[in-house]
Amino acid sequence: MVGKICGTGSYAPPHIMDNNDLAKIVDTSDEWIRERTGIVRRHVIQEETTSYMAGQAAMRAIEQSGTDPEEIDLILAATSSSETVFPCMACEVQKMIGAKRAAGFDINAACTGFVLAYNTAQAYISAGIYRTVLVIGAESMSNMVDWTDRSTCILFGDGAGAVLLKAEEGTPCRMAAYSDGKKGEALTALSRHRKGWEELTGEEKKSDKESYIQMDGQAVFKFAVRKVPEIVEELLGQENLGVEDVDWFILHQANRRIVEAAAKRLKADIAKFPMNLDEYGNTSGASIPILLDEMNRKGMFERGQKIVLAGFGAGLTWAACLTEW
Ligand code: UT7
Repeated sequence: MVGKICGTGSYAPPHIMDNNDLAKIVDTSDEWIRERTGIVRRHVIQEETTSYMAGQAAMRAIEQSGTDPEEIDLILAATSSSETVFPCMACEVQKMIGAKRAAGFDINAACTGFVLAYNTAQAYISAGIYRTVLVIGAESMSNMVDWTDRSTCILFGDGAGAVLLKAEEGTPCRMAAYSDGKKGEALTALSRHRKGWEELTGEEKKSDKESYIQMDGQAVFKFAVRKVPEIVEELLGQENLGVEDVDWFILHQANRRIVEAAAKRLKADIAKFPMNLDEYGNTSGASIPILLDEMNRKGMFERGQKIVLAGFGAGLTWAACLTEW
C-alpha cells in the first residue's frame, strides 16, 4: 500500500512584513536580504495561533479531497512553535475539524518536521495500520526570533500547510532520514520563560534572549548543501533512477542559494526546483506543504509524476522521500 495525496491546503496570515519593513527595525536592507536569501516578504501572525493556521490548512485539504473528517484515522502535525506544549497541535486540529475517530500526535524536528511526518504517515499506510492520514506542517516562527537580531529575524515567516493521504494499492515510497545531534548547537531555540519580559530578573532576561533562535548560518548552509544532494542521490540510487527521471524536487524553503546549490550539485535542471520563499520566507516545517498546495492549486502536478521531498534543519536533521503524485 502507498499513501496518495488526495487534497492539499495552506494558510498564510494576511499581515505581511516586507524587507523594507525589517530595515526599519534592524540594520539591514532589501538588497542584502534579496541577494543573500531570495526572500522579499513574509507573512506574520497577529491574532492567529499556530493551531489556528494548522486547522485552516487542514480544512482546505479536507475540503479539496471531498473527505468526511470522520474518515481520518491519524493526524500528524509537524511543529516546533505551537502555542501549547500540550495538548499537542494534532489534537487541537482534531477538535477544530471534527475528526472524531483520529489518533494524533506532533512531530518536532524543526524544518525537517514535515518530511518526517510525511514519511511516518507513509510507513503507517504501507504497514496497513491506517488508511487516511492528515499530515500538517504549521509554524509561528515570528514568536521564536529575536527581532533585534538581523542575522535571524529576516529569514523566517509564519504559515501552515497540509496534505491528506489515502491508501491505495501500490509500492511504498522510498524514504530516508538522518540526525547528527553532535552538531545540534548550530541551530537552537530553548524553552521559553512563562513570565512577561518586564517581570524577568537580569539573569532571566539574558537567558530569555538566548531562548530565541540562535544560528550559525554558514554552518547550517554548508550542512544543507552537502546533505540534501547526498540523501536525494541515495533515494534515487535505490530505485535506479537519475535526476532526469524526477519531475519535481520540493526542498525546504530556507534560502534560494541553498536550493540552487543543491540543484547544481545534483546536476539537475533548476526549473524542477520550485521556490516560493520570496513570498513566505523560511516557514520551517510549513514550507514544503505550503509549496505543495500552491503547486497543486496551480495545476502543476499530474498523476504518476515522481516527486522528491527533502527537508533539513535543527537537530541537525535531514530527511527525504521519493513519492508519486
Ligand atoms: O531552515 C533551516 C535553517 N536555516 C538555514 O537554512 C539558514 C542557512 N544559512 C543561510 O541562509 C545564510 O548563512 C544566511 C542568510 C543566514 C547568512 O548569509 P551569509 O551569506 O552566510 O552571510 P554571513 O552570515 O556570512 O554574513 C555576511 C555579512 C556579515 O558582515 P561582515 O562580517 O561581512 O561585515 C554579517 O554581519 O553580512 C552581515 N549580515 C547582514 N547584513 C545586512 C548578516 N545579516 C545581515 C542582514 N543585513 N540581515
